[in-house]
Amino acid sequence: MSKVRKAVIPVAGLGTRFLPATKAVPKELLPIVDVPAIQVVIEEVVAAGIEQVILITGRSKGAIMDHFDHSYELEDTLRRRGQTELIEAIDRISEMVRAVAIRQKAPLGLGHAVLCAKDTIGDEPFVVLLPDDIIDAKRPATAQLVEQYERYGAGVVSLMKVPSEDTSMYGIIAGDRMDERTHRVFTLVEKPRPENAPSNLAVIGRYVLPPEIFGYLEATRPGHGGEIQLTDALQALATERGLVGYEFEGTRHDIGDKFGFLKANIEYALKRSDLGPALRAYLETIDK
Ligand code: UTP
Repeated sequence: MSKVRKAVIPVAGLGTRFLPATKAVPKELLPIVDVPAIQVVIEEVVAAGIEQVILITGRSKGAIMDHFDHSYELEDTLRRRGQTELIEAIDRISEMVRAVAIRQKAPLGLGHAVLCAKDTIGDEPFVVLLPDDIIDAKRPATAQLVEQYERYGAGVVSLMKVPSEDTSMYGIIAGDRMDERTHRVFTLVEKPRPENAPSNLAVIGRYVLPPEIFGYLEATRPGHGGEIQLTDALQALATERGLVGYEFEGTRHDIGDKFGFLKANIEYALKRSDLGPALRAYLETIDK
């Protein structure tokens, strides 16, 4: 079985829920405290041993690649000022990973965005990460999923239990439990109402996919909103080759949503020794 070495991160969406902030600034650069969201996600893939990141980008997303490039002017100024700690932090980002960008010429859907990576991926399995989902976990969620891929030799989707009244916000699976955290997935139902939901297990933004997914994506006709949906290709994969669902260990934050973004910022700040105690004390004063 080939090793999982590459990750695809689609960032070509328009980010309409964060307008006007995202008119000129890619939403993936909005910070979780002081680290851009995309860096949080790339740190997760690096920690899982992934060697190459393929960013699927669109218009006005150039600043994302700049973030992972050397900034000689900035480094030189910091060096002259003797701010060595900051130089190290900036250097580390540029050395973090081998990243390439592929332009998705029109936002034709998440499935189409993944398909744009076909030639760069070639004939090997790969991870897909949606940077709206950040996962705070002892063991990176990507590493947990790759382990399941290696165990079963089939595509893997990440699962999270959601309250039954929230099923209409997610893709929900119907499947058979195989052990404590793994499920054999039969069907993926897009945003079912609670009374129609086959389970309370929602698919969230981490996947390990075999290269065969590209054939299913190519065969997928545009669905809802004229977009090529990844879910349709995952359904074909599940039916014809099998698909595993894995309830990862960790806390997921939906930072594509304003309230989720605020909560993630508070929780990440509370965990930091330089900010946590002061923020906690401040929050207590607001409480009263
Ligand atoms: P969303 O559906 O959340 O869209 O995309 P969005 O544009 O990012 O955000 P809102 O809803 O308008 O605020 C899910 C993921 O798929 C990517 C997005 O960048 C995001 O990571 N995507 C979506 C693409 O790369 N291309 C597309 O054509 C559509």
